[in-house]
Amino acid sequence: MNTKDQFNETTYAMPRIGDTAPDFEALTTKGPIRMSEFAEGKWTVMFSHPADFTPVCTTEMSGFATRKAEFEALNTELLGLSIDSIHAHLGWVQNVREHTGVYFDFPIIADLDMKVSKLYGMLQPNESETAAVRAVFFIDPEKKIRLIMYYPLNVGRNMDEILRALDALQVSDKYKVAMPLDWKRGDKAIVPPPKSLDELNARLDDDSLEKITWYLAKKNI
Ligand code: BEZ
Repeated sequence: MNTKDQFNETTYAMPRIGDTAPDFEALTTKGPIRMSEFAEGKWTVMFSHPADFTPVCTTEMSGFATRKAEFEALNTELLGLSIDSIHAHLGWVQNVREHTGVYFDFPIIADLDMKVSKLYGMLQPNESETAAVRAVFFIDPEKKIRLIMYYPLNVGRNMDEILRALDALQVSDKYKVAMPLDWKRGDKAIVPPPKSLDELNARLDDDSLEKITWYLAKKNI
């Protein structure tokens, strides 16, 4: 194990799915926030980018900005983060607005002391010791972490997939179903497998289900 691996295991937290989102206070481009009080009653999509004024990050942040209404339609607030100052964030927001007309109209955390990046496993020293990786945390209204994505510095994320995964989490919660490969709105969902012979027999009698085999059945939602 090299030094950075040891450092990573002992010093840097890696939040897990199902954990309560670690609480923190931070400065953002829209003022100070506290995670435990942020976006009350709503979902939060919190995402990090490696650095302001860099090309891939500009495309990603523009993607979040131009599709903000789709996140709002899913009762979701956006929250960005990088290890840059408020001053740098403001300069970048204004620069992108001047050149493309796209306005990053969501709070971006200035995590200069790397407090939040370390708390959320966004700082992965074998990738970069100074920049956050491209992370996305899906946090539900009860502040539970429900899905985590980590991308390296050199590959941008996919906005369709971020929105699809958010929608899938919410539909799964609402209808108590699971979502199959490539599920998207309008597709059938998977009903949980039977846990008793009574449930198995009920399933065999249920003509509304698409039954592939006894443990794999789908229904319209
Ligand atoms: C970029 O956003 O283009 C970028 C940022 C940090 C490292 C590599 C690429």
